[in-house]
Amino acid sequence: MGKQLWNKGFEPDQMIERYTVGADRELDLRLARYDVQGSIAHIRMLESIGLLKSEELVVLLPALEDIAATIDRGEFVIEDGVEDVHSQVELMLTARLGDVGKKIHSGRSRNDQVLVDLKLFLRDELKRIAVAVERLFSRLIELSDKYKDYLMPGYTHLQVAMPSSFGLWFGAYAESFTDDMELLIAAYNIANQNPLGSAAGYGSSFPLNREMTTELLGFERPHYNVVAAQMSRGKTERAVAVAIAALASTLGHMAMDVCMWMCSNFGFVRFPDNLTTGSSIMPHKKNPDVFEIMRGKCNRLQSLPNELALLTANLPLGYNRDLQLMKDILFPASDQLIESLEMADFMLEHIEVNDHILNDPKYDYIFTVEDVNRLVLEGVPFRDAYRQVGEQVQRGDYSPSRNVNHTHLGSIGNLANDRIAEKMQNAMRRMKIDE
Ligand code: ARG
Repeated sequence: MGKQLWNKGFEPDQMIERYTVGADRELDLRLARYDVQGSIAHIRMLESIGLLKSEELVVLLPALEDIAATIDRGEFVIEDGVEDVHSQVELMLTARLGDVGKKIHSGRSRNDQVLVDLKLFLRDELKRIAVAVERLFSRLIELSDKYKDYLMPGYTHLQVAMPSSFGLWFGAYAESFTDDMELLIAAYNIANQNPLGSAAGYGSSFPLNREMTTELLGFERPHYNVVAAQMSRGKTERAVAVAIAALASTLGHMAMDVCMWMCSNFGFVRFPDNLTTGSSIMPHKKNPDVFEIMRGKCNRLQSLPNELALLTANLPLGYNRDLQLMKDILFPASDQLIESLEMADFMLEHIEVNDHILNDPKYDYIFTVEDVNRLVLEGVPFRDAYRQVGEQVQRGDYSPSRNVNHTHLGSIGNLANDRIAEKMQNAMRRMKIDE
């Protein structure tokens, strides 16, 4: 007899089983801890409304704690023939406790069970991402402070434009990450609502106490409407995907800059030899493969919202099995993002920055605006000053004063890194990292 929870006395075809279960036995392992946590809250609530006796609760709770310990030890497996984590936990309970184990599923469905697992899992996953972002952020702020006086060219249209600095460059990515944190926080808030009690997606005739499970699981509030709760399968994942894609876009952009600054035509930054890669034919090469792989991975991650949108586009209301496939897409993606954030932090710890880049005469024209502004401060109207310097450039007798004196908020001489750090601290507080 098959081990499906829904077994009604006939054997499902093996091929059908393999095809529909797909990668779930592997992917669901990440949900196992949360599945047990959800079951514990559910049965406490069932006991409170009289659907379980207190004698039953006291045998079920330690049995579930035992399963949780098995999971924590890394010994939990989803056996062949068992469809998913929800089935495995229930089968283990029944094998151990007999009929009492069969009682825990009153008033719920695997549909709200997987939903609650995913929300608990994603809350933690989003925090894990936030911690990795914050680590890289601190590195960037530290480097920005350290290299605040190291000037570099700023470009527009990829033509040398105006003086910039490594203080500005590192700090720019730091602040940009604080904006991505807003999306991470939004995803967290969407995930932080309790779907338990929506059952198959339309509620239950049992008087379930949803406020109680909300409190037990530490959710901000219930996802009230049971249909909306079911609709949040997909919606939550898409919100997470948008946040991951935003972070990937920022990180990928930074990786591209590093590739360019490492190019010998620019030569702005270097890494120790053991962090670069070589060529099988050209003996001199020190390649930026790390940042190329990072750029590529981050570009791929930006397809995440589209992948999930296409997977879930125009699904009929209510549960549909297609939803299962979101796990295949989302779970590896958040690992990949974290891996790249950590790699960026590791690499930047060893970055070597060139000083005096702007002394090279090829950057002379970068100072034209400084010189126009100096004339303006001496009383020359802006348009006349612009023309005067422009004519010097035309004639070929422009000679830069090389003075850079930017003092306003957010500029080379006044990076406002402490204010940017406050933005990040505030974001981390809103992610409830310490809870
Ligand atoms: N593996 C399933 C999923 O991820 C669990 C829910 C199954 N529900 C069902 N009605 N077949 O969606």
